[in-house]
Amino acid sequence: MYVAQPIEWTERGVVMLDQRLLPGEEVSYTYTDYREVAKAIQEMVIRGAPAIGVAAAMGAALGVLHSSAKTVEALRAEFSEICAVLAKTRPTAVDLFWALKRMERRFTELTAENSDLGRIKQKMVEEAQLVHFEKRATDEAIGRFGAEFMPRDGQVMTQCNAGALATGGIGTALGVIRVAFEQGKKFRVLVPETRPYLQGARLTAWELHKGGIPLTLITDNMVGHFMKSGKVGAVVTGADRIAANGDTANKIGTYQISVLAKENNVPFYIAAPVSTFDLSIPDGEHIPIEERSAAEVTHLQGVRIAPDVHAAHPAFDVTPSRYIAAIFTERGVARAPYTESLRALAAESRSAVIAR
Ligand code: MRU
Repeated sequence: MYVAQPIEWTERGVVMLDQRLLPGEEVSYTYTDYREVAKAIQEMVIRGAPAIGVAAAMGAALGVLHSSAKTVEALRAEFSEICAVLAKTRPTAVDLFWALKRMERRFTELTAENSDLGRIKQKMVEEAQLVHFEKRATDEAIGRFGAEFMPRDGQVMTQCNAGALATGGIGTALGVIRVAFEQGKKFRVLVPETRPYLQGARLTAWELHKGGIPLTLITDNMVGHFMKSGKVGAVVTGADRIAANGDTANKIGTYQISVLAKENNVPFYIAAPVSTFDLSIPDGEHIPIEERSAAEVTHLQGVRIAPDVHAAHPAFDVTPSRYIAAIFTERGVARAPYTESLRALAAESRSAVIAR
């Protein structure tokens, strides 16, 4: 089945597919400067929490690789500036900070061990590639855990794009859907277009169509109508940040879908890696919500669709954990009470016990 490749480390630099141009054009750019990688994350060339983490890890490695520092001390000072620039790009996706922390940890280990700059550079590149490699395995495990919760037929709703484009693997929510299909399940995917950035219409519809998975594209204001029809067997979405009590930030519009799912007795699931947990915050009230440009609301693909008025653009909202039936991770399935199940999964090693 077709798997999109949003990012790749190559000899020439970091190659990223420009997701702003999909589905019309498939254009890739090669980045050799970490500042350009930061700009690409901010401007949505690459997006989706896990893929942002991969891009940040690769950006950090690029910064080290091309540094002209002559001593470890000089490289250390430069490295903290590199991480600070990358950290300022997207505030909600916790995978970004997870990836930077991981690169910082590796940098500290390497610089404590030796002062051979060539070796430090090479090992940092290897670490970034490992982050990407691990995402693939993570997605496949999430897919296997989640697939059994998908109905045999009928319809499954998602939101935004939590597919290969958003992770660099097979996707989280779309990974669950993909594995369920590979197991022979035959539902149709309901894809809300996800205004204002249209990740559903432009990216999820593109990925599912290319993968041969049947879908129906709907506008965001059709969600309640379809939910009430009784033919939606499950909702599965990705996540940008999951607080200790299970409250989950995801693309704007996810919260209203979860409320409608509750009202209509449809199970609402989250699919996300453990790197998306933020156990340092007790609940969703503490999740920073990115406010993006109002022009993304007043304009569609550069064309003005509203008068020159004030427009709001919170890019994410928070779904309270009481609406979440289960969270699929690579280590197993978390259920309420999430304060306990998330903590247990976070503490587990990779061959984890499953909380069910
Ligand atoms: O603004 P975006 O496109 O980066 O938002 C993406 C989402 O909200 C995804 O659902 C989330 O990051 C999970 S991606 C596996």
